[in-house]
Amino acid sequence: MTRDGTVLLGVTGSIAAYKAVELASRLVQGGAKLDVVMTDSATRFVTPLTFQSITHRPVITDMFATPEEYDIEHIALAERAEVVVVAPATANIMAKLAAGIADDMLCCTILATRAPVLLAPAMNVHMWENAITQENLARLRARGFKIVEPGYGSLACGVEGKGRLADLEDILTALRQILDRRSDLAGRSVVVTAGGTQEPIDPVRLICNRSSGKMGYALAEAARERGARVTLITAPTALPAPIGVEVVRIQTALQMREAVLKAVPDADILVMAAAVADYRPATAAKSKLKKEEYPLMQLELIRNPDILSEVKGNLIKVGFAAESENMVQNATIKLKNKGLHLIVANDITEPGSGFGVDTDRVVLVDSRGKVKELPLLPKSEVAHKILDEVAVLLTTSAGASGGRTHQQ
Ligand code: C5P
Repeated sequence: MTRDGTVLLGVTGSIAAYKAVELASRLVQGGAKLDVVMTDSATRFVTPLTFQSITHRPVITDMFATPEEYDIEHIALAERAEVVVVAPATANIMAKLAAGIADDMLCCTILATRAPVLLAPAMNVHMWENAITQENLARLRARGFKIVEPGYGSLACGVEGKGRLADLEDILTALRQILDRRSDLAGRSVVVTAGGTQEPIDPVRLICNRSSGKMGYALAEAARERGARVTLITAPTALPAPIGVEVVRIQTALQMREAVLKAVPDADILVMAAAVADYRPATAAKSKLKKEEYPLMQLELIRNPDILSEVKGNLIKVGFAAESENMVQNATIKLKNKGLHLIVANDITEPGSGFGVDTDRVVLVDSRGKVKELPLLPKSEVAHKILDEVAVLLTTSAGASGGRTHQQ
């Protein structure tokens, strides 16, 4: 599965631990160098010897065992892992990872690694649905952990529901995808815009829109994970700043325009996920407008410049189209008018898709007329799918030379 690096398999104490034996076997058969770390409770379900017989390497269970026993230093495990997969991942390990606890070998290694980490949770349905587990899951996702969600079925505890370890094929596919994407944007410079711009009426009031910024932030994180240098130009949002990304904070469309035009000359890729206000008040009052003085308030609005159309040059341009009808047709028109390589069309009328939610159902349309409909997916995954297309466009289009742009 990997060329030089090692897959680190973490096994925690769920009845599904026996399935990790098959996973280990498939990974080794696929050519992976495999390190296995087991928590103490995992060893109650399956013995370390079982994994050792598959990997022909020592299985690590004890944080305080002498390194000579393993012929590796503890932190070296974290360093040499190309990818970490925890299968099964219990509610306990998820809680510990979400809190940064490092009281066993697996937690320590994951805290110390810079490799991507994939979690395949398995637990009782009520433990899975518990708000604490779901909060931990959201926190881990926001910190870049990948999750292969558990499946439905009858659980060992005798109830029916979500909580079964995902199919091994799905875990292996997710691992392969992580490895394929790992450095395909290495050395590239990516500018991402996010959030809804805010156009002041006076020092207190403003015109804004429903964008949460989630898609743009997911894109910035995804591009960073794939090795890119990322500049995130963001309107105000409630989201934590992504780690390892240069963040430029702006408020208005005009400020966003200025920041984008400043950033793109060095960029290979521009992804405009921001919802830029089409209009702004012609004048923003310097002091608060008193309602007593305005029984009827009439605002004069003027058009904001179209940032995407203004950016010219040898870079890949990706835009978004929030549509409520004729998605592909309208998106294609926008793609041509704005001179884009790729447009992400989003049906905002569909439940679970569009503003504020964590999922999206989008259609990708490229400048060659290729149309790709995606199912409803977490925004983090939509971001990677968009970048999958961008990575192909980079190798095949004028944008491949990148890094030199000019604006009108
Ligand atoms: O024209 P429309 O607003 O539907 O286009 C959406 C796309 O264009 C988005 O990618 C958005 O970020 C970008 N846009 C822009 N400047 C504007 C309005 C939208 O770059 N003034």
